[in-house]
Parts: sequence; C-alpha cells; structure tokens
Amino acid sequence: MKKEGLPMGSCDMAKKQQYFIQRAWGLRSRFNSLIAVLAGVVLVLVVSLTMNGGGGGPAVESESKDLGQGRPAPSETIKLSDQEGSCDLASGRWVYDNASYPLYSEKDCNFMSDQLACGKFGRKNLRFNATTMLERLRGKRMVFVGDSLNRGQWVSMVCLLDSSTPDAHKSMEANGSLVAFKVKEYNASIEFYWAPLLVESNSDDPVNHRLPERIIRAGAIEKHGRRWTGADILVFNSYLWWRRPKLKVLWGSFASGDGIYKDVEMLRSYELALEAWSEWLEFHVDPSRTQLFFMSMSPTHFWGNEWGIAGDQNCHNETEPITKEGHWGRGSDVRMMRMVEAAIEGLKSRGVSVQLLNITQLSEYRKDGHPSIHRKQWEPLTEAQLANPGSYADCIHWCLPGVPDVWNELLYAHMFPKTT
Ligand SMILES: *[C@@H]1O[C@H](CO)[C@@H](O)[C@H](O)[C@H]1NC(C)=O
Ligand SMILES: *[C@@H]1O[C@H](CO)[C@@H](O)[C@H](O)[C@H]1NC(C)=O
Ligand SMILES: *[C@@H]1O[C@H](CO)[C@@H](O)[C@H](O)[C@H]1NC(C)=O
Ligand SMILES: *[C@@H]1O[C@H](CO)[C@@H](O)[C@H](O)[C@H]1NC(C)=O
Ligand SMILES: *[C@@H]1O[C@H](CO)[C@@H](O)[C@H](O)[C@H]1NC(C)=O
Ligand SMILES: *[C@@H]1O[C@H](CO)[C@@H](O)[C@H](O)[C@H]1NC(C)=O
Repeated sequence: MKKEGLPMGSCDMAKKQQYFIQRAWGLRSRFNSLIAVLAGVVLVLVVSLTMNGGGGGPAVESESKDLGQGRPAPSETIKLSDQEGSCDLASGRWVYDNASYPLYSEKDCNFMSDQLACGKFGRKNLRFNATTMLERLRGKRMVFVGDSLNRGQWVSMVCLLDSSTPDAHKSMEANGSLVAFKVKEYNASIEFYWAPLLVESNSDDPVNHRLPERIIRAGAIEKHGRRWTGADILVFNSYLWWRRPKLKVLWGSFASGDGIYKDVEMLRSYELALEAWSEWLEFHVDPSRTQLFFMSMSPTHFWGNEWGIAGDQNCHNETEPITKEGHWGRGSDVRMMRMVEAAIEGLKSRGVSVQLLNITQLSEYRKDGHPSIHRKQWEPLTEAQLANPGSYADCIHWCLPGVPDVWNELLYAHMFPKTT
C-alpha cells in the first residue's frame, strides 16, 4: 500500500503559467458556441491581464528565430534587426513578461489622462487578488471535493491566499477525509475533501487508498456529502481514478458481507456515479446560495510519441510546453467529458446550475508542468528505477507554482457576478 501526502511541489513553473493564459485565450474563439458565457468571462480575464494592472503586462515578442528564446531588451531587438535585416518587428505574438512590465503604474504618472486611467474608473482586474478573494469568502466555506488533482488545486488556492496574507492568522486542521485551511480575520474556510470517485469506494481512505481493485457503491454519496452540506462554494472533480476498463460496483454496504458485486464497464459506472452526484446536489444544495463548479479532466503526459519523441519516453526531462495548437493526448477521454456535460445539463433543467471549467485543453500543452522525478517518493526507489528515472516520473500531478494556479485564476474569474 502506498501512502500519499500533500503534493507540495518544488519545481518552479511560474514563468510558464503566463504562457498558458495566453494559449487559453488563443483557443477561446474556437468553441464559443459551446460555452459562450464562460468564454466571455475568460476573455475579460485575459483582456484584463493583457491590459495589466498590478502585475504582468504585455510585451510583443517577435517570432523571428534571431531573437532566440528569451525576450530581448528593446535596444537589443533593434540591434538584431539592424544586423540581420530579417527581423520584422511588426509581426509577433503576445507573451507575458512580469519582470519588466508594466513600465509605469497608473497612480505614479502625474500626467495620466482620465480617459485612459481604467483602474481609477473601476476597471476590475480579474487577475487573482487574494484580498478580493478573501472578501468573497468572508464568513464562508469553500470545499474542493475530489482526487489528488483537485487537492493540488486546493493547495494552489491555499498558497495563493497564504502567501498574500503574511500577517493574517491562519490554521490548517485535518479531520479524516476533510482538511480545512482557515483565515481567522475573514472567518473563511477553504477545505479539501477526499472522494476520488465522488461516490463511496474502497479508495476513500485519505491516506491508504491505492488498492489493486476498484470498488464503488454507485448510488452512495451521502456519507461524503454530509461533510460538505452547507458549503457556499463547491468545486468538484473526478476523472483519473476511473481510467480502467471496468470497475466493481457494489450494491449493499462495505460493512455487511451480503452485498452484491458486479463488474461494470467504466463509462456506465461513471454515469452511475454522476447520477448519484446530481441527485445529491438537486436535493441538498440551495442553488440560490451555493456556487457549484466541476473541473474538467486533467491531462497526463505518458506517451512521448504524442509530441514527437520516442514513444517509451514520458514527461521526464520535458522543459517546454507543447506548441502544436489543439494538441490532445489519448489519456483525455472526451466521452467522459460529454457525460459530465450531460449531467450538468440535466441538473440545469432541474434548477441547479453547475459551471464546468474547461481546463483540459490549456493543460494538455503542459508536458513540462508535472513533477516528473522532482517530488517526494513514498517508497524507497529500487536500483532498476534509479537506473531509469523515467520509470518513476510523475506525469499526472502538477508542480506548484504551476498549472493549477491558472485553473484557480479561471475559477476566481467565475466566482464573481458576470455584470462587471
Ligand atoms: C487587490 O484588491 C484590493 C482590494 O480590492 C486592492 O486594494 C489591491 O490594490 C488589489 N491588489 C492588486 C495587486 O491588484
Ligand atoms: C508579477 O509581478 C508583480 C508585481 O511586480 C508581483 O507582485 C508578482 O508576484 C509577480 N508574479 C509572478 C508570478 O512573478
Ligand atoms: C463563520 O463562517 C461560518 C462558515 O464557515 C459561518 O457558518 C459562520 O456563521 C461564520 N461566523 C461568523 C461570526 O460570521
Ligand atoms: C471530525 O468530524 C466529525 C464529523 O465527521 C465530527 O463529528 C467531529 O467532531 C470532528 N472532529 C473534530 C476534532 O473536529
Ligand atoms: C534526461 O536528462 C539527463 C540530464 O541531461 C540525461 O542524462 C538523460 O539521459 C535524459 N534522459 C532522457 C530519458 O532523456
Ligand atoms: C474543452 O475545450 C476543448 C478545446 O476547445 C474542447 O474540445 C472540449 O470539447 C471542451 N470541453 C468542454 C466540456 O467544453
């Protein structure tokens, strides 16, 4: 049995993040019919990022190879252009440069025009602002429910809030499957509840859950739901634990010996679980008070041949994102995504609104964002593993800071009324 703890990442991916917000923007126009409302908000987010305020501003990077990887200082750019005569400064793409932009702040320019001072006239900066977030969470409970990917997103949220509030009184308390991060000044509670398959399963122990066989009690979610009844914001996910052809479904209880077990094809068992989940939401959540989110599947990077390297290599040693637009790995099962969409549609017709946050595509590009071999190992590595680091690379979870921070920026953008 493998023990799992909090996936506190250690590799620094902060720079890459910026790239991905930009990629997400590039994709928006493609599926506007599907999630037009979400797209609108994302666009606002991206535009506000691009317009800047409190951080990253835009820089234009020429696509010319002459410029190499790094973004050159303007003077260098001109020099290169003069030298080569081939660098077209008018063609390029937007990239984020948090280090050298903005070149001035709105407040510090005495001659700023009121026609252009957007911050002064109430332009909301949708980039994650911990203070604004904590105000939103004042006297509230936000609970992330799901697997270790969702827990990674919760850790990211905790770090986003913690690092920006050095003087606040904070605590972390665990009670079984529930861990709660609290910020006293705001009476805000940001929690994670371990339920990797949403419904009851033999993997529900928050520490010892790696069992060879996967058994779910398809209709049973109350035991979990009881712990998050009354939450103000719920963020669900459930995907990777389903990735096997069949699961054992139990009718009856784990405790009594007389349950009936049946092997059920994965998609059907996922559907059963989503039905139980929908039903729980329909009858236990007050939609006027509770905001509901479902995070789409988080991609993995196990097969190098998907991005053009030898097939037996995985994310190990990868340091750059995939640049092919629309890249989609075969680990991401569109059928399951459609099932979640259908469940959400069903709920909508019953008056319960769940927002699906589509983080799959933007994360697909990030083969470089996984911990790979840079994480704590819960069991000592064997000689064979040490000789072949790729064999134990984690190409599932995400380093922090990193990709889940971007998921939280999207979540943040969706947590405020869309009137702004
Ligand atoms: C975050 O929001 C607070 C209050 O709304 C504001 O005072 C502060 O300037 C914002 N911080 C940044 C970095 O934008
Ligand atoms: C971006 O820049 C702002 C302002 O300089 C800073 O507060 C913030 O921490 C930076 N973010 C990253 C990810 O470097
Ligand atoms: C503190 O927050 C909880 C929700 O986490 C809420 O039930 C309670 O009423 C709040 N207390 C105060 C004093 O606001
Ligand atoms: C832990 O949670 C249970 C509910 O599942 C509750 O009865 C118990 O009081 C909690 N323990 C602590 C120490 O908060
Ligand atoms: C990974 O990088 C290391 C150091 O550069 C190198 O020795 C090793 O051969 C690489 N492994 C793979 C699988 O590319
Ligand atoms: C998420 O976005 C991708 C790429 O645009 C798209 O193929 C997929 O259908 C979307 N999924 C959902 C649930 O909207």
